[in-house]
Amino acid sequence: MTKTSSFTAPKGIPDYVPPASAEFVAVRDALVRSARSAGYGHVELPIFEDTALFARGVGESTDVVSKEMYTFADRGDRSVTLRPEGTAGVMRAVIEHGLDRGQLPVKLYYAGPFFRYERPQAGRYRQLQQVGVEAVGVDDPALDAEVVAIADAGFRSVGLTGFRLEITSLGDDTCRPQYRELLQEFLFQLPLDEETRRRAELNPLRVLDDKRPEVRELTVGAPLMIDHLSESAKAHFEQVLGHLDALGVPYTVNPRMVRGLDYYTKTTFEFVHDGLGAQSGIGGGGRYDGLMAQLGGQPLSGIGFGLGVDRTVLALQAEGKTAGDPARVDVFGVPLGDAAKQRLVVLAAQLRAAGIRVDLAYGGRGVKGAMKAADRSGAKYALVLGDRDLAEGEIGLKDLAGGEQRQIPIDTAVAAVSAALAQDR
Ligand code: HAM
Repeated sequence: MTKTSSFTAPKGIPDYVPPASAEFVAVRDALVRSARSAGYGHVELPIFEDTALFARGVGESTDVVSKEMYTFADRGDRSVTLRPEGTAGVMRAVIEHGLDRGQLPVKLYYAGPFFRYERPQAGRYRQLQQVGVEAVGVDDPALDAEVVAIADAGFRSVGLTGFRLEITSLGDDTCRPQYRELLQEFLFQLPLDEETRRRAELNPLRVLDDKRPEVRELTVGAPLMIDHLSESAKAHFEQVLGHLDALGVPYTVNPRMVRGLDYYTKTTFEFVHDGLGAQSGIGGGGRYDGLMAQLGGQPLSGIGFGLGVDRTVLALQAEGKTAGDPARVDVFGVPLGDAAKQRLVVLAAQLRAAGIRVDLAYGGRGVKGAMKAADRSGAKYALVLGDRDLAEGEIGLKDLAGGEQRQIPIDTAVAAVSAALAQDR
């Protein structure tokens, strides 16, 4: 490939161009379809918001807020941040538009880019794409199971199979503070280095997620949240698992799971794919029962997920699968002469109006070049029109895979092409 410009995409940000972009679109649409199948309505939110929203919502001590935000002052000297995730913005919008005062749960989905200034590597981007859902205002284990199940179904609907679901409970405000103290007591006895000790003070749960073997070894016997749940958090978690069993959604309980965002309570989960190397999380989510109140709204519960579209595309590739239709069009028009071109331009518009995707050979290419373009477009049929056909009121309909071509009356072309395509389906 020749580079014609010294400009490149910003570091760590993927472009998706045809034909590979068809896969990206197919994955995103499939995940969205799964959310819509459970009644989630679309929400379209700003790409940037007040910095304080994320600081307060996601948590000052998280890596996302303390190290990874794209924060800048706008021309009015307001501190704004490119959204690093979707949940805080959705809560802000639910409160602002009073959706929490209507029918509960409020069920919303979103799809779009998020921004984190992370060190770029395979599967870790600075602009990442998610499909997410949030269900606000009802604390029902069946709703937790629904959220998990639509993520699972979404991944499966694109053909992904090599993933697993890890799930745990992070407790609630009646049991987590005590557990936090217990864990800190345990951690402070260990010969931890300075930085890890500081982390144990600030966010002890994160120490359990330390990947270094020496720290892992030290924390083998650490107390786990799951063994210290309150009665109600425990019952909630057991019911979620019961629903997942009934739904046939496979899972493993991972009591050491730690998520990178501070708002999680009770049910918390992650979808992990083993074909991706270090960046193996293809989606994650959980309950965040204190977040609304934290952002100045009513004390309503919530649960949701964010599924990584980029990583799902990579996971499909790792499984040797493709998604989406790489064909750009159904039909490709090949005009052989000026009058023929004029007629084909109109016929193309008529076919498009009938819901058929059509492209033409533009630029006065020879028949060979035009047929090559037709093949490359992925079209099933070419419509070949010469000036002589035109005089006879006919057009050639060529099956691009089989090679046969038949003449049909040009006035019936829309019906004939529709019928041919319908038969192929
Ligand atoms: P998260 O786990 O931070 O959760 O992100 C969700 C998913 O986004 C990850 O599992 C991963 O697939 C993808 N992702 C995150 N960072 C990157 C990156 N740098 N490059 C590529 N993909 C990435 C959240 O964002 C929560 N808001 C999810 C949620 C919604 N929880 C409750 N409601």
